[in-house]
Amino acid sequence: MNKLQSTTQLIRTPKRRLITSALPYANGPIHVGHMAGAYLPADIYVRYLRSAGEEVLWVCGSDEHGAAITLRAKIDGTTPREIVDKYHVEMQRAFKGLDISFDHYSRTSSEKHHKVAQDFFLKLLENDSFEVKTQKQYFDEEADQFLADRYITGTCPKCHADEAFGDQCEKCGSTLSPTELINPKSTLSGAKPVLKPTTLWYLPMGRHEEWLKDYIENGMLKGKAHHDAKAWKSHVVGQCKSWIDGGLQSRAMTRDLNWGVPVPVEGADGKVLYVWLDAPLGYITATIEWAEKNGQDWRNWWQNADTELLHFIGKDNIVFHCIIFPILLKQHGDFILPHQVPANEFMNLEGDKISTSRNWAVWISEFLENNPSGSDPMRYVLTSIMPEQRDSEFTWNDYRDRINNELADVLGNFVNRVLVLTRKYYDGVVPCAPKKDALTDVDKSLIAVLEVAGEGIGDLILRHRYRDAQLEAMNVARRGNKYLTEVEPWKLQKNDPERVRTIMHLACQVVGNLGIVLEPFLPQTASKISVSFGVEGSTWKDVSPTIVNDETILGDLPILFTKIDEETVEAEKAKLGNKGG
Ligand code: MF3
Ligand code: ZN
Repeated sequence: MNKLQSTTQLIRTPKRRLITSALPYANGPIHVGHMAGAYLPADIYVRYLRSAGEEVLWVCGSDEHGAAITLRAKIDGTTPREIVDKYHVEMQRAFKGLDISFDHYSRTSSEKHHKVAQDFFLKLLENDSFEVKTQKQYFDEEADQFLADRYITGTCPKCHADEAFGDQCEKCGSTLSPTELINPKSTLSGAKPVLKPTTLWYLPMGRHEEWLKDYIENGMLKGKAHHDAKAWKSHVVGQCKSWIDGGLQSRAMTRDLNWGVPVPVEGADGKVLYVWLDAPLGYITATIEWAEKNGQDWRNWWQNADTELLHFIGKDNIVFHCIIFPILLKQHGDFILPHQVPANEFMNLEGDKISTSRNWAVWISEFLENNPSGSDPMRYVLTSIMPEQRDSEFTWNDYRDRINNELADVLGNFVNRVLVLTRKYYDGVVPCAPKKDALTDVDKSLIAVLEVAGEGIGDLILRHRYRDAQLEAMNVARRGNKYLTEVEPWKLQKNDPERVRTIMHLACQVVGNLGIVLEPFLPQTASKISVSFGVEGSTWKDVSPTIVNDETILGDLPILFTKIDEETVEAEKAKLGNKGG
């Protein structure tokens, strides 16, 4: 690498990237909406970076505290421990099934995490980050428990919708505190709660308003060469600004509950850390665990200005990652702040919101178990309709059309044509590169596509435009298909076999490149192609018109995609809303 290039590299790319995906609540199985929101985009990003030779670490884990868990345990008539143990395993099956390639998957109910979270809290205390207040809070005398968050419902003071929760109204999106609710009611017993004093540690967020504003609008752009990979999505900035403009209220960082990380202060029995304080610290715990296993120093990933921190989440998590967590990290003092939070919006399903309780969801593990075709078809569709800038919708008709018309008819068909023709004409041996002067304009424009494909697709991925990136990767196959249709080698083989050698050499190059550029999106298909076309071990930097060696002997390649029939589509639709199945 010459000097000029290496400086450019330094300006444009950070030394290393730490990637996190929202820790999913261990209270139910993973569905398509979760995948398209926080896991699949991160997987594409990380697979690309690994192929490009960048230093990257991707951590995740189960979020095992909070009302999401305890309420679920209550409904199921079991303990929080049983719930989290069950779903901690179950969720990982779904991730594995979809080839989600975390470097480390942790959990927040572990002893290790409790220690990490408590140490962090103590450091915050030491830095005078809290206001300790004894105040009257709602208490359920029947259930003998204080009520916060999802333990209490009532009428929203802002929009007057019924069933707003103690922390938020889902109807209008307002952030609430339990004492604002009109006609409050306990979700545990249905009882009307009484007020009782308790001590809570509050985070005075108002103190942080000034620097937060700057941080969210342009903090991460300042002092760096401009590259729009650093610009935050407008819906993310919009949500943060409206929160800040609404005035940042103090928020309680402890709860009176018996499930969670105990508050590490004398006399704080029966108190635990607020789940939104404890859960993001799970990213740190996961990093520490990974580092211990791999002989690395975790501080390099969290306390080094050369590291970029990126959080992949759904839009309901934005304020926690863009406002509350940065405040906590800054108050602690030793940590870097998130550089990019490429939050996605929501994915709806067949005209309705995804809902676990109504079984209006496509469950990943269940789907993959009944579908032997592997992870790629589902990954492909979810990426095609990823809710990057606005809500999107999954439908089974669309699923069928994309698999049949795009994966099978474009990609599968092209790769198969090249393989079959190469076998027919040359016993499966890739013909040698043509002489430069043998190239026609059609050939040259195909070569030009391969020359820019790697950088073009990579750039879209870096800017978190996964739909477009996948489209561009598929366009390489589309372009190859079109080339064969235009030059029609099957009509020339008899009279101009030399010309056909050029055509088939180039067609094989297109397929070889697909083995690399499709890998972030369709890892199983890409691996099959790579093995068959002899490019396994190649990386993103090898994407070029010469990736496949002359005289490579093509290996076997099974049919890549089977088409979806009407019966399957109808059977999948029938499962929706059906609680028995
Ligand atoms: N469990 C939360 C959810 O599913 C996400 C937690 S993200 C973390 O909405 F940062 F707190 F870990
Ligand atoms: Zn409301």
